[in-house]
Amino acid sequence: MKGRTTVTAGELTGLQVEGLRYRLGERVLLDGVGLAVGPGESVAVTGPSGCGKSTLLRCVLGLTEPDSGTVRVDGRELTGLREDEVTRLRGQRIGVVPQFGELLPELTPVENVALPVLLSGGDHRAAYKRAAELLTEVGAPGEGTPVGALSEGARQRVAVARALIAGPDILLADEPTGALGPETREDVADLLFAVARERGCALLVATHDLSVAARADRTLRLRNGMLTDVPEEVAA
Ligand SMILES: Nc1ncnc2c1ncn2[C@@H]1O[C@H](COP(=O)(O)OP(=O)(O)O)[C@@H](O)[C@H]1O
Ligand SMILES: [Mg+2]
Repeated sequence: MKGRTTVTAGELTGLQVEGLRYRLGERVLLDGVGLAVGPGESVAVTGPSGCGKSTLLRCVLGLTEPDSGTVRVDGRELTGLREDEVTRLRGQRIGVVPQFGELLPELTPVENVALPVLLSGGDHRAAYKRAAELLTEVGAPGEGTPVGALSEGARQRVAVARALIAGPDILLADEPTGALGPETREDVADLLFAVARERGCALLVATHDLSVAARADRTLRLRNGMLTDVPEEVAA
């Protein structure tokens, strides 16, 4: 699977979060949060603005250190690794689709998508080739137009392509449709879930957009620092 030679029986894959606690001043944002997302599975975390969804994703990415608890990426415990090891693991295994794309507006789509590989010292030609293929796959332009001149929907497609460039096992999306208009929103949500499913990625989406959450295999609600299952009929 994706360049790795052996996967031994029983090896943990995907994402496992256990007992995550994170306090911000007086507020306990995460109060023993646990969740698992297997390969090809999708989980949506909903909840009102400010409840801690982005904090949870940052903990999963190793950008915020929780007070306690563990995060495992493909069986490797992220919490407790050295910073350079976390950076490497994140770069190889996790793709991130942020709310505003966070692309470099003056660069073309191909340059934006290839950039993570270039920055980590990967082969330039291979990176540009792969970037162009991914952009075709997600239905975004590649060359010619700087990203800053694209429509919001096209920019978010480019962001999805960029999240896929390293062949990640885990995809994290933080309000991936939050900056989009109603029509583009549906298209980008469809795309995100489709690319994750096709590649067998574990997809974790933080969203307060219920139509995005409805596409996930499971929807969880973050409230008072705890995750609870949202029944399917409510999530839909
Ligand atoms: N770096 C920070 N400094 C101070 N407060 C923060 C910081 N990051 C997040 N917060 C606060 O933590 C809470 C949770 O934020 P966040 O995880 O972004 O929630 P959500 O993504 O669900 O909207 C909010 O009340 C926010 O104001
Ligand atoms: Mg947020």
